[in-house]
Amino acid sequence: MKMLFFSAKPYDRQFFHQANEKHGFELEFLETHLGPHIVNAVDDGTPVVCTFVNDKLTEEVIGVLAAKGVKVLALRCAGFNNVQLDAARKHGIRVCRVPAYSPEAVAEHAVAMLLTLVRKTHKAYNRVREQNFALNGLLGFNLHGKTVGAVGTGKIGKAFCRIMAGFGCRVIASDPFPDAELQAAGVEYLPLEELMAAADIISLHCPLAPENKYLINRETLRKMKRGVTIINTSRGGLLHTADVIDSLKSGHIAYLGIDVYEQEEKLFFKDLSGSIIEDDTIQRLMSFPNVLVTGHQAFFTEEALRQIAEVTLRSVGRLMNGEAVDEEVILV
Ligand code: NAI
Repeated sequence: MKMLFFSAKPYDRQFFHQANEKHGFELEFLETHLGPHIVNAVDDGTPVVCTFVNDKLTEEVIGVLAAKGVKVLALRCAGFNNVQLDAARKHGIRVCRVPAYSPEAVAEHAVAMLLTLVRKTHKAYNRVREQNFALNGLLGFNLHGKTVGAVGTGKIGKAFCRIMAGFGCRVIASDPFPDAELQAAGVEYLPLEELMAAADIISLHCPLAPENKYLINRETLRKMKRGVTIINTSRGGLLHTADVIDSLKSGHIAYLGIDVYEQEEKLFFKDLSGSIIEDDTIQRLMSFPNVLVTGHQAFFTEEALRQIAEVTLRSVGRLMNGEAVDEEVILV
C-alpha cells in the first residue's frame, strides 16, 4: 500500500524505512511542501498521504486529495493547526497524528534555550574560539529561586514544569485543565494575567488556536515584569512578532528564545546559507544578542523520530484495516 510523504528529509527516510520493516508499506518521499501548487501531482489512487508541520492542508488541498482517492492523512507531528479538519470530515478522509512522541525532547530543548540565553553560552562558545577568555558581557543569572510560568501543562508543559522544579524554581502555570500531579508536586495554577505579572520566565506550551493567536502582544507584554525571559517552542503565531521586537528594543523583554516563527514555512528545515533572506522580521530578531532562534528542532531527537515513525505507521495500518485507533491519535 502506497504512502506518499511530503516535506521529507533524509532523517524521515531513515527512521520510516527502519520502522517500516515490520509494516511493509510502499514509501515514497517528496521533499516539497504540500500545498495548492503541488497537490495535483499526487497520483490517482494514492491511499495515504503523510505530512509535517508546514504542509498546508487547506480545504482546497483536501478536496483534491479526496478526489484522488486519499483515505488517510497521517500527520507525523502533534500540532494540527495547519489542517482544515472540517474539510477532511466533509470528504471522509481520516486524519491521524502523533500526539506524544517525546514530550521530554521539546521540554529539554526549551530548557536548553533558556540556559543558553541566561548564561550566554552561545556567546562564550564563539568567544573562546577567538582565544578571548574575558568574562565582560557574559554575566548571567541563577535559575534557582526564580519564578517560572508555563502556559499550557499538557504533555510537554508538564515535563518542562518538572525540570524547572528540579532547578529549584517556583513553578506557576496556566491551563484550563490543571494537572493534579503537578499541583501535588507544588505547581501553582494561576489565571494567565496573574502568571504573566508574576513570572521571571515564561515558556509557552499550549497549542495555537484562533482564541490564543498573538497571546503575547503589546497589551499582554505590558503586564509582564520588565526583564522577563520568554521561550516559545509551541507555535510562532502565539507571538505578535512586531510587538515582541518593540519590547526587545525597549529592554522590557530581557531574553527571547524561539524555536518556532509565524512565517517559518519559508525558512525552517532548509539550508538558506547561500541565499538572501527577504524576511526582514526574522533578520531583525536574529540581530539581537539576547535572542536565540532555532529552526523548529525541539522535537529532533533519536527517541522522538523513532516514536514518530512507529506510531504513524501503526496508526495508518489500523485505519486502513478499519481497526480501532487511540482517541488521542485520531483527529477525524
Ligand atoms: P497537549 O495537548 O498535551 O497539551 C496542551 C495543553 O495546553 C493542554 O493541557 C491544554 O489544556 C492547554 N491549553 C490550551 N489552550 C491554552 C491556553 N490558551 N492557555 C493555557 N493552556 C492552554 O500538547 P503538547 O504535546 O504538550 O504540545 C504542546 C504544543 O507544543 C503543541 O500544540 C505544538 O504546538 C508544540 N510542539 C512543538 C514542537 C517543536 O518541535 N517545537 C514539537 C511538538 C509540539
